[in-house]
Amino acid sequence: MDVKLKCIECDKSFDGGAINRCVCGGLLDAVPDLESLRGVVSKELFDKRIGSREFPYTSGVWRFRELVNPIVLDKDIVSKSEGNTFLYSHQRVREYTGISNIVLKHEGENPTGSFKDRGMTSGISEAKRLGMNAVACASTGNTSASMAAYASLAGLRSIVFIPEGMIAFGKLSQALAYGAKVLQVNGNFDDAMSLVQESAEELGMYLLNSINPWRIEGQKTIIFELVQQFKWEPPDWIIVPAGNLGNTAAFGKAFYELVELELIDSIPRIASIQASGANPFYGLWKNNLKELEAVENPETIATAIKIGNPVSWKKALRAIKLTCGVVEQVTDQEIMDAKAIVDASGIGCEPASAASVAGAKKLMEAGVIDPKERVACVITGNILKDPDATINYHLSRLDGIFSRFANKPTVIKPTLEAVKREVG
Ligand code: F0G
Repeated sequence: MDVKLKCIECDKSFDGGAINRCVCGGLLDAVPDLESLRGVVSKELFDKRIGSREFPYTSGVWRFRELVNPIVLDKDIVSKSEGNTFLYSHQRVREYTGISNIVLKHEGENPTGSFKDRGMTSGISEAKRLGMNAVACASTGNTSASMAAYASLAGLRSIVFIPEGMIAFGKLSQALAYGAKVLQVNGNFDDAMSLVQESAEELGMYLLNSINPWRIEGQKTIIFELVQQFKWEPPDWIIVPAGNLGNTAAFGKAFYELVELELIDSIPRIASIQASGANPFYGLWKNNLKELEAVENPETIATAIKIGNPVSWKKALRAIKLTCGVVEQVTDQEIMDAKAIVDASGIGCEPASAASVAGAKKLMEAGVIDPKERVACVITGNILKDPDATINYHLSRLDGIFSRFANKPTVIKPTLEAVKREVG
């Protein structure tokens, strides 16, 4: 079996190695030999592996190993049994969005609390296969938490570049605790991203941001697993929060491969949702621009997607075009209200994740999504990642945000009378 790395700009092909960009500067795709996979992979094969206790098939990533990294050997696979995330359907979410057939796929149920683990098990395993010693990434938090955990598990050094003071505490604490070298860059995520690219090349660190094609290969499994949960009959829409655009890119590639391999016969439309204060991809799509215009000072309460210059925009645009998709933006108010609904449904998520649900509501109200269509929203991160945002919402302490669904705690005297008065 064979995988080539191929430039999305000039089509030049490479046999592999620790490279993330073509000589022309273009991003690379890992291109599996679909011809040789035909007849090897099947719905039955993937279904048979569900519930397996055999390594690495306990993982919802490696269950699809032929479509993730067909050349990596078991000895190099670094897995925390990622994936196998649940689909939630809740009346409160249906009523809020106005969509009768909406489900949420909770990627916050991954081992370090975000979807990043799917791309990270794939990226770190490739780093081991290549014999790398050190890995690096820039991050708004979740990538660094995930990379730190997987690198330590693999015995690799990890160096993370984060924008100082701009990442949620749950994520920073994970990166520190898992033992990464944490560099707090005086600047925003986009500054950290340029610096890590320069440093990785100069210092021989293996770059594990989503410009690494193997990260994308792992993240495709969100779609593989979702489609499998839908009994191989995909929904009409997949809605995903969008920041650096790795997921949007991965989802398009996943659908392309599933159709080519005749594992599905229709492709859902992807809706990629940005925060309105960090919306360069929305601007590109809405105004039909040829090149992405970066947002200089991105601003949103959803720090995970506070990104002004997303690296994977060309791959993401390809995904939107392939799937007749759309790009939408939502305000911080819409994000926090949607989060309150997801949280109060017992599902729970971090702010950026709720952009998908806020986006679903907006697209339904605009008539883009029909209320009867089957819609799957991806919830990207766990509720515990950013407790500050949650508490400040419920205490009505967020500047410029009205806490419409606040659930304020009550202070009482230690008496039964006081309890009765409150509880009724
Ligand atoms: N949701 C969460 C919770 C995220 O952490 C991210 C990205 C996204 C959505 C956006 O996904 O970049 O694939 O479009 N977080 C990255 C990080 C940038 O560094 O953790 P994307």
